[in-house]
Amino acid sequence: MDFIVKSGNPEKQRTACLIIAVSQPRKLSRAGERIDKASNGLLSTIIRRGDMDGRSGQTLLLHNVPGSLADRVLLVGYGKDKSMNEQAFIKTIETMSTALKNSGASEAHTYLTDIPVKGRNILWKVRATVMQMNNSHYHFDALKSEKSEKGKVLRKLIMNVPGRRDLATGEESILQAVAISAGISMARDLGNLPSNICTPTYIAKQARLLAKGQKLLKVDVLEEADMRKLKMGSLLSVSAGSRQPAKLITLEYKGGKPKDQPVVLVGKGVTFDTGGISIKPGAAMDEMKFDMCGAASVIGTINAVMTMNLPINVVGIIPTTENMPDGLATKPGDIVTSMSGQTIEILNTDAEGRLILCDALSYAEKFKPRFVIDIATLTGACIIALGKIPSAVLGNHQPLVKDLIQSGKQIEDKLWELPLWDEYQEQLNSNFADMANIGGRDAGTITAACFLSRFTKKYKWAHLDIAGTAWKSGDAKGATGRPVPLLCQFIINQVQGRRGQ
Ligand code: BES
Ligand code: MN
Ligand code: ZN
Repeated sequence: MDFIVKSGNPEKQRTACLIIAVSQPRKLSRAGERIDKASNGLLSTIIRRGDMDGRSGQTLLLHNVPGSLADRVLLVGYGKDKSMNEQAFIKTIETMSTALKNSGASEAHTYLTDIPVKGRNILWKVRATVMQMNNSHYHFDALKSEKSEKGKVLRKLIMNVPGRRDLATGEESILQAVAISAGISMARDLGNLPSNICTPTYIAKQARLLAKGQKLLKVDVLEEADMRKLKMGSLLSVSAGSRQPAKLITLEYKGGKPKDQPVVLVGKGVTFDTGGISIKPGAAMDEMKFDMCGAASVIGTINAVMTMNLPINVVGIIPTTENMPDGLATKPGDIVTSMSGQTIEILNTDAEGRLILCDALSYAEKFKPRFVIDIATLTGACIIALGKIPSAVLGNHQPLVKDLIQSGKQIEDKLWELPLWDEYQEQLNSNFADMANIGGRDAGTITAACFLSRFTKKYKWAHLDIAGTAWKSGDAKGATGRPVPLLCQFIINQVQGRRGQ
């Protein structure tokens, strides 16, 4: 879909569909009032009759409105002005998108950009519109014999901005939103692919494809033999039970000066998590194909950063493997030695994410990182604690945690902090090794982060647990692409030297 910004009066727009906001109770937006005047009160008559009262979710499609040059006028309700906020705005765009899909318009001009959203300017609204339109037009039908695309599709969306001075920054907003959206789609595609296609080898191949012909991106893939040389005993203990070879993928984006310390992103890439010998129960086990969504978010983010041409260095590290039960699989009670030299008693082979991340986190040291952020579908406990609205964040450097939370607010991809207090560490005590890989039933998300914290002492680090946010279950089952938006916003803020606002 093409996106354009324009500034002008609604009655002058020659378009297939003009989109006008209506709020409760029965109030036309400024653009709506102009169309009303041009049409001798047609819109206010319709509203008075009660066909459109401005409720959120309500739409009304009108044809041949007199005084307007548009083929159609679409009225979109958004509720009361005082309940308008970021989520409500995004929901209104979703409503608009659905109504447009049901119309015959292949092009449209929206004035929903004049809806007042507290604390948000026109650039935020343009970006949110583009991102939501792309999100709602996403479909994954690569593996269906009949493709879902039917009838006319929207090819172009024009967004109105208040003045001509907003055009240049509006265009910039669009470029950013399009890049981030492509990153999100890429992460969703990788997540949605089944584990018989999306293997560690497949992910490595996609990473290499991403770097093809790109001067600023370098990709390096370590094989199991390389990992053995690096003494990554913990990572290798997870892949021991799988016929698919594990890979350790590194993507280096060098948009900054050679000496600039990189932001390092480490993404959990378990392409299928059966639990291993501590095997999972059968219900919804198919969803464990999404256990590589952390890895997918790293690839999606690097793609977006590259498209935006950001002057910064970013390294993506992806440990990727299956977690399978097998004659050679690791068994409960087995003890392994991690790359850091610390020994781990594996009391539960289903706590495998931390076992591959810890070696990847030790490996990250060699990049002399400015920050390290790991992203992982790490614990079911995270869903119990926070549900599926925010991802959890924990870390060893408060300013980093705060900046991540702030980035999430800016782009509506929320985080909530859990405490990483020392008192929790003792839950990881082992009678036989330096630590156990599980910390019991209490505070599962925190003890998982405690485990990782033992491998991240040499740099500033934050951990994102995306178990509740990386995919949706039920009828809308599918990967969400989160937290690509948050990571992109964080990196954009790093470039702009902007901390929280
Ligand atoms: N990939 C899972 C976490 C998960 C489970 C994410 C369900 C989303 C939905 C992870 O590898 C895992 O199995 N974690 C265990 C840890 C436990 C054994 C300490 C869990 O959460 O049960
Ligand atoms: Mn597991
Ligand atoms: Zn897992």
